[in-house]
Amino acid sequence: MLISYVDNLPTGDEEGVFYALDLGGTNFRVLRVQLGGKEGGIVHQEFAEASIPPALMSGTSDDLFDYIAEKLASFVDEEEKIFHQPPGRQRELGFTFSFPVMQTSINSGTLIRWTKGFSIDDTVGQDVVDELTKALKRKGVEMRVAALVNDTIGTLAGGRYTNKDVALAVILGTGTNAAYVERAQAIPKWHGPLPKSGEMVINMEWGNFRSSHLPLTEYDHALDVESLNPGEQIFEKLTSGMYLGEILRRVLLRLAEEAFFFGDEVPPKLKIPFVLRTPEMSAMHQDTSSDLRVVDEKLKNIFEISNTSLKVRRVVVELCNIVATRGARLAAAGILGVLNKTGRDTPQENGEKTVVAMDGGLYEHYAEYRKCLENTVAELLGDETASTVVFEHSNDGSGIGAALLAASNSLYLDEKS
Ligand code: BG6
Ligand code: GLC
Repeated sequence: MLISYVDNLPTGDEEGVFYALDLGGTNFRVLRVQLGGKEGGIVHQEFAEASIPPALMSGTSDDLFDYIAEKLASFVDEEEKIFHQPPGRQRELGFTFSFPVMQTSINSGTLIRWTKGFSIDDTVGQDVVDELTKALKRKGVEMRVAALVNDTIGTLAGGRYTNKDVALAVILGTGTNAAYVERAQAIPKWHGPLPKSGEMVINMEWGNFRSSHLPLTEYDHALDVESLNPGEQIFEKLTSGMYLGEILRRVLLRLAEEAFFFGDEVPPKLKIPFVLRTPEMSAMHQDTSSDLRVVDEKLKNIFEISNTSLKVRRVVVELCNIVATRGARLAAAGILGVLNKTGRDTPQENGEKTVVAMDGGLYEHYAEYRKCLENTVAELLGDETASTVVFEHSNDGSGIGAALLAASNSLYLDEKS
């Protein structure tokens, strides 16, 4: 439960040109957004996307930040050939950094630990805005970081900009997390002055939730022990896109070793960690062909397992279903917990809806998972309340959200842009 220093969400009055940089999902993005103020909305936006080379995920802090600063530098160059930066005005940026950060202000904070396969020791404990600012200097880019936000906070801000009923944001992607608006007085960790709004957005970091009430199987224990971050991110390891395929691989391996599920030999490829990615699992799970052709193809392509019987393929689909259903129902339980905490697990007296801004590849692309999640929330709430809770896909809302928060924390707030 981390304090975000965001005590006001976007109102629609935000104005000016802002950059955003979004690091922590499958792809790394840079954006430039022109905000038109009241009634103007988003006048223009451009973005560029790149993946982070795997070697940089476990290299040095300077290498990672130099890489993203370089991408931002060339994006700025391209953009400003067409759109000129207003003279005398420093560029400002919203930095979405989707990892746990102990914020010290809206635009500073130290990295608590890496998650989701990143592991760069010398960044831990450092102010990530300083790291970025130093790299930008090295690459000759003049830019002020006006807001540092988690992807959940960015998604909440982006969601609220387009829909005032957005009350919480949930990411289900490589990792998982949620953010919601809390009464500042109800936050024991908050020792600052009471914000004018009386509210503060909380980055829950629910991926790191663990409890003796959270049942773990032997597959979960083994996955955790062999992971880059043993003992951490337990809820994330049961629910998110980085891990679902890997859980399934472990179950299939066990079946092969102990029940000769794929014949006398254990297919060697089945022993390779993370070789089965969640998108492939999703494709097998959602195979609607009568002979389960997609399952056959995936088993061949990923594990070099041929000539499976229809019965074996059906078991594979059922296993996909079990692993995905558990993850989706746990994520739904998390959402119910937030609705409960904020008094939104019953219909609101003023008739207000509760909108949940959702983002992340798992939610977006794994339809069975998404359906199961939404049905479970409805099942837990009961019909009357379920009709007041709406899920909204906030596609790449977090980059826009970071730009909006940069706008509301701009140095030039009192000036006309
Ligand atoms: C994106 C956000 O849309 O979703 C990112 O802009 C976020 O900030 C991401 O981290 C999560 O999705 P995934 O599936 O790429 O991890
Ligand atoms: C991981 C990160 C968290 C992020 C989530 C979704 O759980 O620790 O900060 O919000 O992934 O991207």
